Amino acid sequence: MSELENHFGDDASLEKEDYNNVLAFLLKNSAEEVTMEASKKILDSIGNKDIIAISQTSFWKKRHEDIPKSIFKHEKIKSKANCKACHTDIERGLIEDENIKSINSFM
Ligand code: HEC
Repeated sequence: MSELENHFGDDASLEKEDYNNVLAFLLKNSAEEVTMEASKKILDSIGNKDIIAISQTSFWKKRHEDIPKSIFKHEKIKSKANCKACHTDIERGLIEDENIKSINSFM
């Protein structure tokens, strides 16, 4: 949040009020603050490593290792970062099996 003018190569600068709202949201919902099991596991798997994406954590990699790599290139997915393509309710924090689209639907 401290260098939004250079956010992975994009200028993601925000107006002061938006900046404050986003920052407050991130702090309130960070893995350090929430009680969801997966958040704790992801945080634990980061440890001291310099990781900037959930998909680079050992926990994420382990949970997704059985998914064929080519699936992430599917036109409806495009990237590992597109969590919502498979986890339909991830915005509400729901990652249970019944909220995951069948991998077969992308084959
Ligand atoms: C191609 C579809 C796909 C994408 C994209 C994807 N996932 Fe998953 N994810 C799965 C599947 C399938 C499982 C269940 C694996 C299993 O149970 O063997 C899973 C499991 C998980 C779990 C473990 C759930 C548990 O109960 O332990 C978490 C957490 C998770 N995903 C988070 C994410 C996040 C965060 C992203 C985006 C950065 C993401 N996933 C992107 C398909 C996907």
